[in-house]
Amino acid sequence: MSQAPPPTGPPGPVIRVLIADESERITENVMRRLGAETDIEVCAIARDGDATVQEALRTRPDVVVIDAGLPGMDGPQTTEMLTQYLPRTAVIMLSLDAENEAYRRAMLAGAREFLQKPFTGDDLVSAIRRVHAFELRKAAPPTTVEREKPPNRGTVLTVFAGKGGVGKSVIATNLAVALAREHRTVLLDCSLQFGDVAALLNLSAAHTIADLAAGDAVADSDMVQGVLDTGPGGLRVLAAPTSPELADYVTTPHLRALVEELRRTFDFVVIDTASHLSEIGLDAVEMADRVLLVTDLTVTSVKNAKLVRSVMEVLKVPEDRFLLVLNHREGSGEMERSHAEHFLGLLAAVELPYEPAVVAVSVSRGAPFVLTHPRSVAAARIDELARSVAPAAEPGAGAPPPPGPEPEPPRSRRRLGLRRR
Ligand SMILES: Nc1ncnc2c1ncn2[C@@H]1O[C@H](COP(=O)(O)OP(=O)(O)OP(=O)(O)O)[C@@H](O)[C@H]1O
Ligand SMILES: [Mg+2]
Repeated sequence: MSQAPPPTGPPGPVIRVLIADESERITENVMRRLGAETDIEVCAIARDGDATVQEALRTRPDVVVIDAGLPGMDGPQTTEMLTQYLPRTAVIMLSLDAENEAYRRAMLAGAREFLQKPFTGDDLVSAIRRVHAFELRKAAPPTTVEREKPPNRGTVLTVFAGKGGVGKSVIATNLAVALAREHRTVLLDCSLQFGDVAALLNLSAAHTIADLAAGDAVADSDMVQGVLDTGPGGLRVLAAPTSPELADYVTTPHLRALVEELRRTFDFVVIDTASHLSEIGLDAVEMADRVLLVTDLTVTSVKNAKLVRSVMEVLKVPEDRFLLVLNHREGSGEMERSHAEHFLGLLAAVELPYEPAVVAVSVSRGAPFVLTHPRSVAAARIDELARSVAPAAEPGAGAPPPPGPEPEPPRSRRRLGLRRR
């Protein structure tokens, strides 16, 4: 059933790929295209589901490229078997069908990527390299990759998601309160139209980020310090505008200047964001030392988190900057944690349980659960998250940053055609 082509790879590990598709034309095209890559080798070909499992068990490929409509066991069924028997083999699902149902079945079965036919050879090659790189990262001993950060400047943590309501604000506020126990921490609400931070901390928000922007005082140290609210445990807070139309006062240059100012005096600047992709949200991500990507385990939320990852790839946000935070904001999700991790190419830093008696109650009281329920599992997970980001802190932040021009947002942003704020 299978024949490996002559090895073409450079010395060192090549990515071994099994192609599973009924169509000879497609397998030939794919083989020809992959044959042009020195780091990829086709180790087997299969034409139906059973043969795919047999060949995979025999050749133990790194990646299986599998057609969703395979005869016999179809693509998702075969994928389920492969993820069970060969968990270190990554599956890329190909489908003629762009329907959500196909995507959904592929994700639930444990596929790591989904490519709609027709796709380009380049798309396939990058998908193969991407899923393989994640396998290698998973196998490597954990290392803390820190972004090179100028000394004496606080760490910016941006909490982001591809879907509304997944728990960004709850996580941002509790994390900021937890960090404030030992570090100078400020929480900035960049969900400019419908920010919830003030409500979650039961603050009056007498001054907001819009006041600073309207007064062009975002880089004025005294003014900035003067408008910060004080929340629980000494956490400093800059709330979102009190009314949605005021959001338009805040532009990306305002945000950049403000964050630069805040990181001169705080160890941590935690930024809560809105779920839609706006210039402000993307700026908050680009400025971050760590991006906390929040998702629950529903297919739609994981799918959107994946889209966020793709956008960030276009914007060249390094992937070691992401921390995946799984939050069960409803009962159990549809996907298994490991499937979501593989699909997103990120291992979860923490997983928060569904704890309505803790989380919902703390939300309705405007009191962070790390303080009201310090012994809850949710609070323990937030502490874990705080510990995983805290090594990035540079104690002694407070000295002015070295002079230098403000970096321009990358040009690649234009490819996304986002409206400026
Ligand atoms: N782990 C959890 N257990 C129980 N309930 C939760 C959990 N996480 C979040 N929730 C509930 O989900 C609601 C939404 O959370 P939150 O406001 O933080 O989401 P968000 O992502 O900030 O939403 P938005 O996109 O509107 O800003 C909260 O009011 C809370 O009651
Ligand atoms: Mg929110």
